Amino acid sequence: MCGIVGVVGRGPAAPPIMDALRRLEYRGYDSAGIATLEHGHLARRRAVGKLENLENKLNCEPLAGLVGIGHTRWATHGRPNERNAHPHAVDGVAVVHNGIIENHRELRDGLKLAGARFVTNTDTEVIAHLVSHELKKGCKPVDAVRLALPRLEGAFALAFLFEGYENLIIGARKGSPLAVGYGRGEMYLGSDAIALAPFTDMISYLEDGDVTVVTREGIDFINAKGEHLRRSPAKVAGSAVLVEKGGHRHFMLKEIHEQPRVVGQTLAQYVDVVGGRISLPKDVRLDFRDITRLSITACGTAFYAGLIARYWFERYAGLPVEIDIASEFRYRSVPFDPGNLAIFVSQSGETADTLASLEFAKAHGQRILSVLNVASSTMARASEIVLPTLAGAEVGVASTKAFTCQLATLACLAIAAGRARGVLSADDEAPLVRALADVPDYMTCALKLEPKIRQLAHRIASSRDALFIGRGTNYPLALEGALKLKEITYIHAEGYAAGELKHGPIALVDKDLPVIVIAPGDMSFEKTMSNMQEVIAREGRTILVTDHKGASLAAPGSSAMLTLPDMPPLVAPLVFALPLQLLAYHTALVLGTDVDQPRNLAKSVTVE
Ligand code: F6R
Repeated sequence: MCGIVGVVGRGPAAPPIMDALRRLEYRGYDSAGIATLEHGHLARRRAVGKLENLENKLNCEPLAGLVGIGHTRWATHGRPNERNAHPHAVDGVAVVHNGIIENHRELRDGLKLAGARFVTNTDTEVIAHLVSHELKKGCKPVDAVRLALPRLEGAFALAFLFEGYENLIIGARKGSPLAVGYGRGEMYLGSDAIALAPFTDMISYLEDGDVTVVTREGIDFINAKGEHLRRSPAKVAGSAVLVEKGGHRHFMLKEIHEQPRVVGQTLAQYVDVVGGRISLPKDVRLDFRDITRLSITACGTAFYAGLIARYWFERYAGLPVEIDIASEFRYRSVPFDPGNLAIFVSQSGETADTLASLEFAKAHGQRILSVLNVASSTMARASEIVLPTLAGAEVGVASTKAFTCQLATLACLAIAAGRARGVLSADDEAPLVRALADVPDYMTCALKLEPKIRQLAHRIASSRDALFIGRGTNYPLALEGALKLKEITYIHAEGYAAGELKHGPIALVDKDLPVIVIAPGDMSFEKTMSNMQEVIAREGRTILVTDHKGASLAAPGSSAMLTLPDMPPLVAPLVFALPLQLLAYHTALVLGTDVDQPRNLAKSVTVE
């Protein structure tokens, strides 16, 4: 993971680098650091933990150099301490790295035999040694980088600074994304366009294998052989304004409350309320009659959105769906039929496993459709068709609004597929479209449950574990509810298909275990109620999340109930997600955890 940035400027480089790092902190917050050149010599400031620690350090010991590189770290190799914080420096070469060098042990052993002395536990330090080794042979910086790179296995985006070169940053990319930005007499380099948005909107993305030479006068690109390449800059929209909390205590709470609006915006792209139909954008050239099988691939919360969508594609479009988490998908021997559709779901569009699966599916002749929240992301550029979710910037590490916008988009796609394949008639489609159009109102009602959820959170906060159960689309929702709870409260939580409880997990049930039962009054309600009774009979404390119909049918015995409006089954997962998000949020508040930046996590997971 990690975010990297470089500035070859006219004024001190550290302030703009800090600015860019703030926008990259979503990639990791284990440590941060900056290196600049002062009178030709490397000067570094590094600090463990959040960026504000580095900021405090810089306030006491500012950096004056006009050229510099910066890094925000999500630790992979080596504990998050100051010694392991980037930039790493060896003999006048400083480097920042996003990615993983898989053969670092072997390289380290070889370099040690040649006399190199290592001071960190990181994989990155070998890169600085390799480049320094080439420099000592008399190479120029660009050739030293070019010659060192073929020895690295794994993924990397890199930026280098060289003592004595006050007008130079060299960047390189293999696997991990890297962009350069064009200013007036100043040039920039960064992990993404968002990082560079305060300085420029003229961006070039490096292709795999590119090396870039960044000076105040311009930016050059070369390949492994040293041949010059053309990479034209393009205007990229990315807001220069850092997103604010808008009066909310945390970004997560703000983002939960934004859902009626952003889901409405997302749906408005596809829903024709008057005509009672879904229309995909004209440039989506896709005939679902030609598709015999779908694959859906994603990670984490986005994967759960895909799991829910599987039910929809099967039910409304009669399409068989192959679904897997991205880190597994590409290592299976999946038999692909050329020309079928592979769907990828991602908020960031940068998740390394999802991106690698996308390339894998493409290489096997699949058509690629991605549901993405970041329009300028690497996955957007690699996809044939992009269906945007209009959630806006999601800052809280725990995904909330991106999830419901993904669901909204996938629901529309499933209905469009159903119509195209003749599984749904116009009469079938119209009520589904109406239901989708009503989602923002259902969500507004769901948010009114917050005071009650705040009280329930105290009960959950005193528990060591929690179970979430549901059937049908409520099963993936149970997985998502459990993920939200564990990632921001550190309470161990599991999601289960309600019918699966008796096959093992029920052994966990006792009077201390909260079991959150997600059961709208749909066709599986009675069966889920039986599972709830099995929990109650063993003294488990249940919280029933249901609708008015379910509330009127539910047998007594649940210790608490959250009641949502009645709604058609298609849209229930979008709305039922909200009380689960609020439950996790308020439990975290009780426990005093870092809601927006939970320990060990990062918003964008750019390593495999
Ligand atoms: C959980 C969460 C993660 C992401 C996952 C995929 O709240 O946010 O599980 O959903 O890392 O990220 P994207 O959607 O950016 O590919």
